Amino acid sequence: MDGKVALVTGTSGVAAATCARLLELGVRVLACGIDEAANATLRERTPGIVVRRADMAEAADVEACVADAVNRFGGVDVIVNAAAIHPFGTVVDTDAATWARCLAVNLGSIYLTGHFGIPALRNRGGGSIVNLASIQGHACQRGVAAYTATKGAIHALTRAMALDHAPDNIRVNSVSPGSVRTPMLAVAARHFDGPDADVEAVFRRFGDAHPLGRIAEAEEVAEMIVFLAGPRASFCTGGDYLIDGGLKAGIGVR
Ligand SMILES: NC(=O)c1ccc[n+]([C@@H]2O[C@H](COP(=O)([O-])OP(=O)(O)OC[C@H]3O[C@@H](n4cnc5c(N)ncnc54)[C@H](O)[C@@H]3O)[C@@H](O)[C@H]2O)c1
Repeated sequence: MDGKVALVTGTSGVAAATCARLLELGVRVLACGIDEAANATLRERTPGIVVRRADMAEAADVEACVADAVNRFGGVDVIVNAAAIHPFGTVVDTDAATWARCLAVNLGSIYLTGHFGIPALRNRGGGSIVNLASIQGHACQRGVAAYTATKGAIHALTRAMALDHAPDNIRVNSVSPGSVRTPMLAVAARHFDGPDADVEAVFRRFGDAHPLGRIAEAEEVAEMIVFLAGPRASFCTGGDYLIDGGLKAGIGVR
């Protein structure tokens, strides 16, 4: 992948691990995130990366990120869509603004990076898009109505984009992780056990639910993403790739 260009949405957790792995492989990376603290940490920890502040739910910001990658690096070959938020609630207790924002960030950002980014991939003769879905797009826990709706929709959108852009030599796949040690999962731990939660203890409990007996590290998910983004996945398109420690294989009855 030496010399390729990747645009990555999100700047912490899985996105940060993916950026680091891509850079190791000689890819030039533009990471786009809304959180200035996460952006600064990524810049400090990842020599060679370019990080841009952007709200990937906003069309103008996404258009500017794609233009920045093209102007700075000469084009775009890979898009990794990892930006997301994870509100909790049923449809009754999720307010309309939270519902709309969750759809705009988690799903709308994938539409927008495709809308503005696919012409750039076409100009390079093709490329690869990897969308972060979730195990929650296959089966879900209680109280995650908006989040799970976006993740199921990402599976469907991935198939649609794969079919539409196969003639452009653009492959589109999604990745569906189980629980991954990231800031998002720490927020989930505090949601369940309160603001003073022992986050590591909650992570062990989440891990116990996975047949492999632990949660994933962000780097493990990054390996799958980078594989799908790269030439070794040359016949993979329209697929969803579980990386869930066996979670979906079981029926949870003991
Ligand atoms: N952590 C898990 O257990 C888990 C499990 C399954 C799927 N996922 C998915 O993996 C992906 C990465 O999440 P993560 O676990 O690394 O969490 P994370 O919170 O570390 O990463 C999400 C990133 O998105 C950024 N972001 C949020 N809204 C944005 C916006 N409007 N514009 C730009 N950036 C924005 C955040 O600042 C953050 O850097 C997400 O799509 C998430 O849904 C995570």
